[in-house]
Amino acid sequence: MSPHESTAHASIDWAALEVVARAAREAAYAPYSQYRVGAALLAEDGRVFSGANVENASYGLCQCAERSAMGAAVTAGARRFRAICIVTGGATPATPCGMCRQVLAEFPPAFAVRCVSIDGGLLETDTHALLPHGFGPSVLDGGRG
Ligand code: THU
Repeated sequence: MSPHESTAHASIDWAALEVVARAAREAAYAPYSQYRVGAALLAEDGRVFSGANVENASYGLCQCAERSAMGAAVTAGARRFRAICIVTGGATPATPCGMCRQVLAEFPPAFAVRCVSIDGGLLETDTHALLPHGFGPSVLDGGRG
């Protein structure tokens, strides 16, 4: 991790975000996988948006916690973010799935990601590291016509 990234992580109240993400996880609707996920997304203006995974009997429609949180944030007008904390069960922290990596990368600049498992696992990264060479709005802007 670069010095820049560690500074970004240090200025974030991760403990407060984790409390929100854990509470969101309690609200998860995961009757099919039994794998509950909670997320807390910190906007640049200080607002925090939570999300849980929301499953469906038509399995392909299951929505991840990260995208639930991003949907709430965008609906409230947030477009720039500082951090997301994701809480999962067990011992191994889960990083966002591929679809969520793409959704998190939609809004530059890159922001910090902390993945926590309830048994104490911890993984810190950022949205750029999670999706290197990703497709994004700047690519569209440069390729129209
Ligand atoms: N899930 C998330 O909420 N976030 C991820 O990044 C990975 C997976 C959810 C989707 C589904 O409800 C359950 O975890 C099992 O895949």
